[in-house]
Amino acid sequence: MVAVAPQTENRLTMQTGYIAQDTTAIRSLDWDRDRFDIEFGLQNGTTYNSFIIHGDKMALVDTSHEKFRQLYFDTLRGLIDPRSVDYLIISHTEPDHSGLVKDFLQLAPDTTVVGSKVAIQFLEGFIHQDFKRQIVKNGDQIDLGQGHVLEFVNAPNLHWPDTILTYDWGTYTLFTCDVFGMHYCSDNLYDVQLQDIEADYRFYYDCLMGPNARSVLSALKRMGKLGEVKLVANGHGPLLQFNVQELINRYRDWSKAQTKGEKTVAVFYVSNYGYSDRISQSIAHGITKTGVTVEMLDMLGTDQQDVRELTESAAGLVIGMPPSSGEKAKEAATTLSTILASAKPKQYIGLFESYGEDDEPIDPILTKFREVGLGEGFPSIRIKDNPSEAIYQLCEESGTDLGQKLTKKENIKQRKSLDSDLDKAIGRISGGLYIITVQKGDVTGAMLASWVSQASFEPLGISIAVAKDRAIESLMQVGDQFILNILEEGHYQHLMKHFLKRFKPGEDRFAGVNTQTAKNGSPILTDSLAYLECEVVSRMEVDDHWIVYSQVNEGRVSKSDSLTAVHHRKVGNYY
Ligand SMILES: Cc1cc2nc3c(=O)[nH]c(=O)nc-3n(C[C@H](O)[C@H](O)[C@H](O)COP(=O)(O)O)c2cc1C
Repeated sequence: MVAVAPQTENRLTMQTGYIAQDTTAIRSLDWDRDRFDIEFGLQNGTTYNSFIIHGDKMALVDTSHEKFRQLYFDTLRGLIDPRSVDYLIISHTEPDHSGLVKDFLQLAPDTTVVGSKVAIQFLEGFIHQDFKRQIVKNGDQIDLGQGHVLEFVNAPNLHWPDTILTYDWGTYTLFTCDVFGMHYCSDNLYDVQLQDIEADYRFYYDCLMGPNARSVLSALKRMGKLGEVKLVANGHGPLLQFNVQELINRYRDWSKAQTKGEKTVAVFYVSNYGYSDRISQSIAHGITKTGVTVEMLDMLGTDQQDVRELTESAAGLVIGMPPSSGEKAKEAATTLSTILASAKPKQYIGLFESYGEDDEPIDPILTKFREVGLGEGFPSIRIKDNPSEAIYQLCEESGTDLGQKLTKKENIKQRKSLDSDLDKAIGRISGGLYIITVQKGDVTGAMLASWVSQASFEPLGISIAVAKDRAIESLMQVGDQFILNILEEGHYQHLMKHFLKRFKPGEDRFAGVNTQTAKNGSPILTDSLAYLECEVVSRMEVDDHWIVYSQVNEGRVSKSDSLTAVHHRKVGNYY
């Protein structure tokens, strides 16, 4: 049932599988895709999934990434004649799913392209040729015959503005594209082992869906009107068959938690312009790490009343500079004027350039917001080149800075409200002093920690409690490597002082510190007493921290007669 084509040099392979009555999956397996988008943190490659539904009429749901052009069409032709496809359903227009739409239409010009209004508009700009189209709204149906009645569900902002889901009433299959997906490449067609995929599933949610948690909840509500979902045919990773309810419920729980924040930051971006959407996602991810809710809004195609309401209710505003010329400029300028007219003193503002060809200049716009009385959420992000991993890190840290400004007062209040006896008692728990250091590609991180403990003998393991809004948290995902530097009694003050400085977003935390590179690529602090090379194995979520459990692979002590620095506290409401 499952055929795997021979591997090519760059490890692109194809897999097909019969997944439900008259329904076939065509999965493009991209084993080595690097992390160039924020959500590829776990480096487990990815897949692009496309589906054929064969009733009396035939539908193809999504295509593939253009790097699979040859392999995808060879596989498709092996299964069907592309000209017999009546409908090509575009779940959304991101190039990794619709990169081959143009090629497909050259093979099958009579196929009707089905998508949301926004998706069809995007495609017009992308395909530059006439094509048959059918715009669908929430609840619309297409009957393919043989019981395959397809119903469409609007799911804007999951994670693109044009997203729709497609439900087949004949097989109870929900085709979801990015939603309920994950970047995880393996030969498993299905979610056979939950523990293998759950870290990737969560990370992908945090990066792409968390910033749109309100939209996730709305889409889940709309999904409630469908029948039972027996299979989730997603666009990335293994399909969900064995843990459907569990994994859908996790989206609900996480989204509820993400929208619990008392404050909201409005993030305005221009979809499909420069890197605006990617950058805004990184900033939004950084904000959500602090427990602040994010609402993302496209500056194009959005009702001005919505812009006004969101701006007025938000505690912070983040705006990607729109193009200053071209067809999108006028509409974006109107949205920008509405934001400016609705902004209020005491809100925080953060601006970024999206490395589009001719972004509006930042400074005059920032000046206008400052004149209204808005405070600086983060220093303006000016991107002069294709964004690198380090730029995305800077964006995320900027978002976290903004979120922390908004939550500062509440956090201080919360700390003060601990019952004093309990506070003193828990303060008697003490720990050592450590500095965690990481280098991952061109991204680095470091943090002083004392909530560290050995947690296993065989294999050797340690646990570290990392606050959810720490910059380094994003670099301590399952599979990531880091160093635990153990500080020396009587010889740690300079390191502690250095690493407790307030670093600006993206700032080099190692400037002026002596380091050597460990085998796992992360920096060892030369002045530490001992170090351990660690790899993250699993993470447990608790209210305000992640308990990161890691295996220890190597270690050395520099002075065998010295002791570890101990951190005694008086109260338990801080480290
Ligand atoms: C003595 C001491 C121990 C700390 N231990 C931890 C810890 O175990 N986990 C944690 O998340 N933060 C801990 N912190 C807080 C972080 O070290 C500190 O806030 C951090 O450097 C801020 O980094 P960020 O800007 O990357 O979020 C500790 C702080 C101090 C002063």
